[in-house]
Amino acid sequence: MRLPESQVAVLDVLSAADERTVATVVEETGLKPETVTGAAFDLRDEELVAVSEAERVDHHLTAEGEQYLTEGLPEVRLYRAAAGDEAFPIGDATDVAGLSGQAVQIALSNFARKGYGVVDAGAVDPDPDADPGADPEAAALAAVADGETEGVAAKTLDRLAERGLLARDESTVRSLVLTDDGVTAVTEGVEAAETADRLTPEMLTTGEWRDVEFAAYDVEADAPAVEGGRVHILRQTAERVKEVLVGMGFDEMQGPHADAEFWINDCLFMPQDHPARTHWDQFALDVPPMDGLPADLVDRVAAAHREGIGPDGNGYHSPWTEDVAREVDLRGHTTSLSMRHLSGHAVGELAPPQRFFSVEKVYRNDTLDPTHLLEFFQIEGWVMADSLSVRDLMGTFEEFYRQFGITDIEFKPHYNPYTEPSFELFGQHPETGDLIEIGNSGLFRDEVLRPLGVECDVMAWGLALERLLMLTYGFDDIRDVHGTLCDLDLLRETEVLY
Ligand code: PHE
Repeated sequence: MRLPESQVAVLDVLSAADERTVATVVEETGLKPETVTGAAFDLRDEELVAVSEAERVDHHLTAEGEQYLTEGLPEVRLYRAAAGDEAFPIGDATDVAGLSGQAVQIALSNFARKGYGVVDAGAVDPDPDADPGADPEAAALAAVADGETEGVAAKTLDRLAERGLLARDESTVRSLVLTDDGVTAVTEGVEAAETADRLTPEMLTTGEWRDVEFAAYDVEADAPAVEGGRVHILRQTAERVKEVLVGMGFDEMQGPHADAEFWINDCLFMPQDHPARTHWDQFALDVPPMDGLPADLVDRVAAAHREGIGPDGNGYHSPWTEDVAREVDLRGHTTSLSMRHLSGHAVGELAPPQRFFSVEKVYRNDTLDPTHLLEFFQIEGWVMADSLSVRDLMGTFEEFYRQFGITDIEFKPHYNPYTEPSFELFGQHPETGDLIEIGNSGLFRDEVLRPLGVECDVMAWGLALERLLMLTYGFDDIRDVHGTLCDLDLLRETEVLY
């Protein structure tokens, strides 16, 4: 029997009685792991070799785990520092046990969990009968470092993993044995057939290509993973959103992240005593107020707030001062950019029709939860035309979301101080089926447009980029794609589809 060289080499080191792992075969043949795996699969297809697979988990310590291995677990250090004292002040943990910052919290919570004593009223009362010398987690750290985890209880390893002290690598171990046919083939003799792994110009000119046997590609063979840097999926999706909007005829807006409240709120007919303008919602910056707001625009905006717009206008009966308008905040929405553009102060006076967008970061003092962070990306946009209706708004969203495969958007009437009518947008989460809010929109009110000098209609929106990602990829926690808790494998493997 004639077989490719690598298969012959693998057959030569296999037996029918003992399984050999791919790693052993690699060692014995000197071939590359991917060559051995490829040959093994080919031999299996020829029924000469049987391949069995087992999952293997390797443990190793994280940097924090290594640190505790040398310094001791924080809770054990706390116990030792407090031993013999009935009311050891937590404040002394830094001096006596050398614990500081987050380590104090880590020490206290594990101290209590392990029953090393009682933590109460700023002091620690260690239990004299506790024995941190026999701490199973400390022993497990040492076992992991020595690569001897067999005797360690699974739940202790789980706990170390939860504490972020241990990381796990999962891999598949393949073992090979000769089948009966394999034994027969080896006894009868197998010879290496010369195979070529690529077609060369020489083969073509000499005509040799007619006689050579080509090695088949095995697309399932394990190959070393090559991991370079890559663009974050959030950024990739932002780029795609930009391309879609440019394709729909929109121009991109640019503007400051930290801006005067005037552009963020006042131009939007948000009364200065509106709850969303407090520090509970927005981040105020401790910097000098913004100079040089356009005086005529300030006057018109102030008048809209005080008296309203038009003969039936009423306005807010609450105070309005330029001092508040000049204060600088991190923008809570990119509608500030829309105001700058519509006012003619960003890219000059604009005559209808116009379409503008931005895909930029906004900042809100929200409570962190699976769908809220302190910052996120907003897809801002507006269309200016002589006559617009809600149908134009809905049609624009339908066209936009359809490019991402989302065809079941729902609209809910809503209230914004700056738009009338206003709509919230909802989409269905592909995994949970829940309706999730994906944006907010409306037609700007006269109280917003007239002071800006705009006499025609403007429809506008702010959509959350992260929510679009949730709908397209099925994430249910925004922290999967933002911040330090991101899953690197997910970021490496998720493809943005074009
Ligand atoms: N600024 C709104 C938000 O952040 C979005 C929006 C923009 C709504 C423009 C209507 C018009 O939720």
